[in-house]
Amino acid sequence: MDLKGCIFDLDGVIVDTAKYHFMAWRRLAKELSFEFTLEDNEALKGVSRMASLEILLGIGGVTVSPREKEELAARKNRWYIEFISGMTPDEILPGSMKLLSALRKEGIRTAIGSASKNAGTILDRIHLRNMFDVVIDGNRIHKAKPDPEVFLKASEEMSLSPSCCIVFEDAQAGIEAAIAGGMKSVGVGKPGLLGRADLVIPDLRKITINQLRNL
Ligand code: BG6
Ligand code: MG
Repeated sequence: MDLKGCIFDLDGVIVDTAKYHFMAWRRLAKELSFEFTLEDNEALKGVSRMASLEILLGIGGVTVSPREKEELAARKNRWYIEFISGMTPDEILPGSMKLLSALRKEGIRTAIGSASKNAGTILDRIHLRNMFDVVIDGNRIHKAKPDPEVFLKASEEMSLSPSCCIVFEDAQAGIEAAIAGGMKSVGVGKPGLLGRADLVIPDLRKITINQLRNL
């Protein structure tokens, strides 16, 4: 392919924030008197805050009013912000920096395409904002993954055609979004879940630009 841009999901690809989301959701579940397991947490990856809450309440068999839902989501987010406010650049996942530097050196543009409304805070905490030409986060989109909106907006802001872009994702919904947007995709994680990606890798450590160009 004629590779001109790479769009990265943030949570689970560049940083392991899934653990902080999990800690905050588990605390909320505890307050609501039910258990929330690491296994349950898998279903929340890549899913928006309100949709995650719906799944969590479904697991606990809890019904609440729309107003209470807003309050619960805000409470979870306050804890989450507390956790991520202590993040440091040490938490950048292995291989991310090397790949981003190599791409930029080659003149390939880089973007973040994240569902999170906290993406800006995280990028600031890990000092990585300047490695991305474009940041599209949960504050700038209306439709959640698997809708391709977040990635299409990223390619548009990079002034690139979707066919020249590769998406890096750890969530199934994200791979589906890339496919729907007409982009190549690299799944970061386990092949079982990410089988629809053009390539699946365990992390960003070994991937080369040549491999990407061959997709
Ligand atoms: C995604 C995460 O990137 O962002 C989800 O994978 C999370 O777990 C979603 O729910 C929304 O994040 P936030 O920070 O806006 O609550
Ligand atoms: Mg993710």
